Amino acid sequence: MSSLDAFARAHLARLDEDSLRRRLAPTARGACATAQRAGRELISFSCNDYLGLANDPRVVAAAQEAAGRYGAGAGASRLVTGSHPPLHALEERLAAHKGVEAALVFGSGYLANLGIVPALAGPRDLILIDALAHSCLWAGARVSGAEVVRFRHNDVEDLRRLADDHRARHRHALILTERVFSMDGDRAPLDAILAIAEAYDAWTLVDDAHGLGVVEAGARAPLEMGTLSKTLGSYGGYLCASRAVIDLMVSRARSFVYTTGLPPASAAAALAALAIVEDEPERAVRPLTLARRFTARLGLPEAESPIVPVLVGEAEAALALSAALEARGFLVVAIRPPTVPAGTARLRVAFSAAHGEDQVDGLAEALGTLLRQGCP
Ligand SMILES: Cc1ncc(COP(=O)(O)O)c(C=O)c1O
Repeated sequence: MSSLDAFARAHLARLDEDSLRRRLAPTARGACATAQRAGRELISFSCNDYLGLANDPRVVAAAQEAAGRYGAGAGASRLVTGSHPPLHALEERLAAHKGVEAALVFGSGYLANLGIVPALAGPRDLILIDALAHSCLWAGARVSGAEVVRFRHNDVEDLRRLADDHRARHRHALILTERVFSMDGDRAPLDAILAIAEAYDAWTLVDDAHGLGVVEAGARAPLEMGTLSKTLGSYGGYLCASRAVIDLMVSRARSFVYTTGLPPASAAAALAALAIVEDEPERAVRPLTLARRFTARLGLPEAESPIVPVLVGEAEAALALSAALEARGFLVVAIRPPTVPAGTARLRVAFSAAHGEDQVDGLAEALGTLLRQGCP
């Protein structure tokens, strides 16, 4: 065996031992929050398609029309010949939606954060980051070379203390957080964070991956990034900001400059989905209403967003609980470290406007029974 394969196998064996190995399961998603796995139809509570728009006929038709008209791929980076019309139309609509001067579409949300943060902060600068911020905010922070200091999750007093301790020694400061936290479903105290940012002359970047279209109320940050892959049912990432910041990204965000533009179909699908979000505002309330129905049934703290964590603890136990639910027809994927801190493996239950009340009640009942029986 080559030393390379020996390395890979030894690493996999360690992951297996800790129940942390990850495996791919072919999954065909359908309408009405269904998903087919291994020939079985399941009701999925693990998709981020919060408004069920990925399968909306209008969104699918927009993707088909754009592919037919502009081709399957962008053909080059945005700065060469890849800046096709659907991207520009989408950027205009995103900027208008957020009420800012401009927007820029990236290849994905991950790529957006990987490019935005280092374009704004470097070795002389300070980054204050929420301890539970998404992996791509951390990746952008680390790549930047700035001093990176974490503050306790959603703890504004800790943020203030750290800003006080560190800010004066740095040229610029950036605060990184999320509007809705991806694995906990709670919301950042943005009013307080923005007040601290102002007091310490720091710039705030809010990752709105799980907020757009479903949790929009409240303060807006000068830098709001997000993804086209969740509520907008497509693929890609974006930044909304001032014209000057967006123009800077076009020249300096490496994950924007040195990569091919998003395919026309993805941009057109996201644009069609954003139009639906705006034209049919009654859709937005449903995922949160269903999440609250579920938390009430299980006696959990009231949901703050369409994401509800059911904490289990150890990875093995979370896998067992997920498997027991799958056997009962519900797809609720277990989330394990390092996606979440050690000892906090969980089921992450995500609600969609496409779910029926009966499906939500069915899951609550199945999960309640399993937990009462002491499963896992
Ligand atoms: C908070 C957060 N930010 C960024 C991303 C990355 O977005 P994308 O899937 O478009 O790369 C995700 C999820 O994937 C996320 O949950």
